[in-house]
Amino acid sequence: MPPRLLLASANQGKLRELRTILDGLPVELVGLAEAGLGEPPEVEETGETFLENALLKGRAYAAWSGLAAVADDSGLEVDALGGVPGVRSARYAGPGASDQANLDKLLAELTGVPPERRTARFRCAAVLVDPEAGEWHAEAAWEGRLLDAPRGSGGFGYDPVFLPDGWELTSAEADQAAKDAASHRGQAFRSLRPAIEAWAGHAN
Ligand code: IMP
Repeated sequence: MPPRLLLASANQGKLRELRTILDGLPVELVGLAEAGLGEPPEVEETGETFLENALLKGRAYAAWSGLAAVADDSGLEVDALGGVPGVRSARYAGPGASDQANLDKLLAELTGVPPERRTARFRCAAVLVDPEAGEWHAEAAWEGRLLDAPRGSGGFGYDPVFLPDGWELTSAEADQAAKDAASHRGQAFRSLRPAIEAWAGHAN
């Protein structure tokens, strides 16, 4: 029996991507709802870095479930806004804000900023937390530029305005496999894969 590994996220867009990126590992991926433990805890993301927040989530959900957990924290850094929204990307327009509200706020803040100054990057910190065996992490970034109007309906979050460097399609227009091959999340979790594989080999 492959060891069970909790996928510690409630974000549906992220979960979809993680299941694909982690496909083929010798583990049984268990979603928060499938853990059979009822309502998962709300984890306050009080860290100042993506890695701190990813560890907060990984540790909290591992403690809650009794399973080893993988978690990530990710967000968008916009140069013209001094790196904002950064670790606050999910709640840029306020606590519990929708993707649409966050996107609208971003476009409003960037009104009048010319294309050459609309540089930005997605960042992702990915962690594996096993309270008994240890903690592992990997980080990655995906550079691009922000458009002034949304394009495409794939992906989630800020994807409709993110034009990755060297691409003609936004990350919401590209197909999912192309996004996963290039994205911050794809890169970070591919770097973490060997640690997950080694963990799985020792977990039984
Ligand atoms: P968290 O990692 O769950 O705290 O939230 C990350 C937030 O950053 C998401 O809600 C999105 O707003 C944004 N984000 C992270 N990764 C992506 C991505 O791949 N595409 C678009 N938006 C993203």
